[in-house]
Amino acid sequence: MKVVALVPAAGRGVRLGAGMPKALVPVAGESLLVRAVRGLLDSGRVHHVVVAAPADQVEVVRRELAGFDPGSVHVVPGGADRTQSVRLALADVDRVAPGADVVLVHDAARAFTPPEMIADVVDAVLGGAPAVIPVLPVADTIKQVDPGGAVTATVDRSLLRTVQTPQGFRPDVLRAAYDAAGDAATDDAGLVERAGGEVRTVPGHPRALKITTAFDLAVAESVLAAEPIGEPR
Ligand code: CTP
Ligand code: MG
Repeated sequence: MKVVALVPAAGRGVRLGAGMPKALVPVAGESLLVRAVRGLLDSGRVHHVVVAAPADQVEVVRRELAGFDPGSVHVVPGGADRTQSVRLALADVDRVAPGADVVLVHDAARAFTPPEMIADVVDAVLGGAPAVIPVLPVADTIKQVDPGGAVTATVDRSLLRTVQTPQGFRPDVLRAAYDAAGDAATDDAGLVERAGGEVRTVPGHPRALKITTAFDLAVAESVLAAEPIGEPR
């Protein structure tokens, strides 16, 4: 059994505004990227990680990850958008993990994802699901509005879910979805859906939140301070 995780980490972090790529932003002394990679390895399911770094900072990212086994953690230059970055990391899978049984795609920005949730995604793919996503129920009431902002409907949220990462795939399924996709997609499973594939869900976790803004980072810092699970020993 061989599992490889692709980690898109090539974004600029414009909305966070830290003056550096978001993946390199430290939280309590450790970057989001180091935390994301460690979470994957700590799941006990992931054998190889391919990180897509900002193309002009590949060496910086390699140094950042120097504490991990270089046989397990690999860095490639990322692309202009997330889809391109995943595509470039996916192209490296045959070199670093030939014959992989499962491919995960996991945002560096979801650095606090519990390792147990990562294991659940892998296990669902190994259990026969071609594509698996972690999801959470929607807590807020959802309204549909017209372009002017007037409410046109209240949406039944009982069937709605928000989607996190890692998303897990049979490698042939993810490759076929990316081969068929021309343009950018916000999530990888969306490409599988578009190609007519089945996508299953597992329960997500609040700690798998995506760090987008300074507010998210402040939330993550206070959660870490209160519940330092999985912190370096
Ligand atoms: N990402 C990537 N390559 C890109 C753009 C984004 O690998 N060209 C990655 C980011 O590094 C992040 C994930 O995709 O881990 C989700 O993207 P997002 O949260 O939008 O991160 P950024 O693009 O860095 O943030 P922003 O949009 O605020 O600049
Ligand atoms: Mg972005």
